[in-house]
Amino acid sequence: MIVLGIETSCDETGCGLVDGDYRVLGQSLYSQVQTHARFGGVVPEVAARAHLEKISPVVHAATEEAGIDFAAVDVIAYTRGPGLLGPLLVGSSFAQGLARSLNKPVMGLNHLEGHLASAYLSDTKVEPPFLALLVSGGHTELVHVGEGLTFRMLGQTRDDAAGEAFDKCGKILGLGYPAGAEVAQLASSGRRDFLHLPRALMDHGNLEFSFSGLKTATARAIEKLGDGIASRIHDVCASLETAIVDVLVSKTLWALEACGETRLIVAGGVAANAHLRQRMTDLAQREGIHLTLPDRKFCGDNGVMMAAAAQKRLQIGKWPAAGSASAGLSWE
Ligand code: KG4
Ligand code: ZN
Repeated sequence: MIVLGIETSCDETGCGLVDGDYRVLGQSLYSQVQTHARFGGVVPEVAARAHLEKISPVVHAATEEAGIDFAAVDVIAYTRGPGLLGPLLVGSSFAQGLARSLNKPVMGLNHLEGHLASAYLSDTKVEPPFLALLVSGGHTELVHVGEGLTFRMLGQTRDDAAGEAFDKCGKILGLGYPAGAEVAQLASSGRRDFLHLPRALMDHGNLEFSFSGLKTATARAIEKLGDGIASRIHDVCASLETAIVDVLVSKTLWALEACGETRLIVAGGVAANAHLRQRMTDLAQREGIHLTLPDRKFCGDNGVMMAAAAQKRLQIGKWPAAGSASAGLSWE
């Protein structure tokens, strides 16, 4: 079975083709990051128009790379939600139109299920049950994935997501948008104990997150440093990254204890963070956990992960429940 996956939930137009062994046959990704950078964030209307312009060339580039004809595709998958409505409608309409014209089935999937599936590409044998930590620009969730692909939310953020915390604090530090990768780059040569930034909701076993306090704490620290910030930016970034990762690691451990699982997947845009990956690897070694991390190139939004998610559904034999574009807002 060959699945063609389409992703358009935010500011990346992505398409990927994946076979039943989770081999990537072809892929194409158009990032709108440059377009939105000057606004300091994603502008939904601008994003939708860019998807409209790029979706067809991106899908064609992916099939061309795969060297296959559309007729060889068995299933079309697309991101149904959550995400920005305009961008979602572009991907959804394109996928449904393509499926109709090819007379193939179409599968609308949760964007976070796609992030989760990026891990199957690097560990094709990984099967539920496992715990998933999903960390992106819009979400921070601990989800228990049971046999037969059942989803149970164990905890999520009350306010900002982990990626959002990187981006918003980065903005306060005068960095570009999105700031996660740049903060990480600066942090790699900084002192992690330079500032003590808040770690919220850290009572043992609490699986909810709150990262919004980091913005005020970062702003205060900068104010205090005054002109000294220029020579301390690495240290501030290292302290910020450590504060976020400390919380993610502790709560993941508590969630593993709570659900009794020994398998863990960490996925989403923030899973590209080298410090988080190292700390999760350490935790896995210490606790005897089988950890699967997606390849860094598949951590951010892309079409390949949506195709991989559909492959898992086809293998398990669980078609997602039908629904409208907005129905993908929660786990089934
Ligand atoms: O999953 P994703 O591509 O989009 C959403 O679904 O939100 O995640 C994007 C987020 C952004 O907040 C970005 O700053 C963050 O992932 N990110 C990182 C790194 N690379 C991307 N955060 C920390 N360290 C990184 N290396
Ligand atoms: Zn995402």
